[in-house]
Amino acid sequence: MQFDKLIQNSACGYKAPPSDPSNIKQVIQDVLDAEACAIGAYSKLSEKYRMTDVVTHEIFEELLEDEVSDEEQWENLGSNL
Ligand SMILES: [Fe+2]
Repeated sequence: MQFDKLIQNSACGYKAPPSDPSNIKQVIQDVLDAEACAIGAYSKLSEKYRMTDVVTHEIFEELLEDEVSDEEQWENLGSNL
């Protein structure tokens, strides 16, 4: 594994934390952006394997459910600010 290429090969890249770490709204927005990217990536992978590899398809479906749940939690947190 080439660890130096992890970010380059990742589906969503890396976004540095905001320069002001007390900017909670920006932190939440950045997390929501990351969750949306993960949801899109796992959706594509789930569809890719839907007809050819049921086990892999189900793994991506579970990951997708986790990310949707994460997104909902962060949305709720943001709406309570
Ligand atoms: Fe997540």
